[in-house]
Amino acid sequence: MARRLGISRAAVWKQIQALRLRGYKIASSTRRGYLLTEKPDLLDAGRIKKDLVTNWLGRDILILPEASSTNAVALSSIGQRKSGSIILAETQKEGRGRLSRGWASPPGGIWMSLVLRPNIPLSWVYRINMAACVSICRAVCQLGLEAGIKWPNDILIQEQKLCGILTELGAQVDRLDYAVVGVGLNANNDTAAFPSQWRSTSLAARLGRSIDRCALIAAILNEMEQALDDMESHELYEEWCSRSLTLGKRVRISSAEGELIGQVLDLDQDGALILEQGGDRRRILAGDCIHLRPERAAEAT
Ligand code: BTN
Repeated sequence: MARRLGISRAAVWKQIQALRLRGYKIASSTRRGYLLTEKPDLLDAGRIKKDLVTNWLGRDILILPEASSTNAVALSSIGQRKSGSIILAETQKEGRGRLSRGWASPPGGIWMSLVLRPNIPLSWVYRINMAACVSICRAVCQLGLEAGIKWPNDILIQEQKLCGILTELGAQVDRLDYAVVGVGLNANNDTAAFPSQWRSTSLAARLGRSIDRCALIAAILNEMEQALDDMESHELYEEWCSRSLTLGKRVRISSAEGELIGQVLDLDQDGALILEQGGDRRRILAGDCIHLRPERAAEAT
């Protein structure tokens, strides 16, 4: 190796030590050299960019070994963040979920925030969530898994939660300044220790092997740029509906106005859920949704 690289054996050894410190497992044997036996599961901007085919999304990547919350980091430095920049953390200490809940973020997951500055009216804001949900489903499907969307923006595999999205906005009365789209995806992290009522799953649990997080992040970003560029298209809305696991289901919705149980008739272009309840139609824009079994409405699946 030293001869081929034109450097001393000591210089090779130094580089090997540096790689070992970064988590690479390298066996060595006298006179036979070195053998790479295991690569670390660490996020790496170079490895993400290698698979990126985007024009503007993910060109600026910040990876933190630990963050309070990647959304909080993005929001506290929003003035310096260009549209399309990404913040990732190996772990989060105070991960944020929807409805002021926490979000468990152990090592091995994908905890990522995207800074977006789309030139859209406020009424189109939900389209950002549509684009995020659709692109994550597409990227997960590329791994051979079938993922769908639980309204408003959870990604499930067989009724178990794989991924949640938390979008935080900065806006004027009539104009969006920025959106920080936080994606929490259980990839190689162990979800067995999560409380059973969360009904969580991970890609590793589904596939029976670890996945390459950098490649998956690149795939998500590639799909996401396309979906965001097509945000106003009818096709995006149609794909969001066709990937919906909530459409047609009996659900329980908890919102600021209380609890509603009914049948989901439709999802409209603004992301609202149209619920049929006792002969009435209700249009619901936000809330927590639980899928119920059709025959026994009080029992969650
Ligand atoms: C949900 O409640 O389903 C949304 C969870 C969103 C979690 C992600 S992890 C990356 C980003 N940073 C956070 O603090 N939250 C989001």
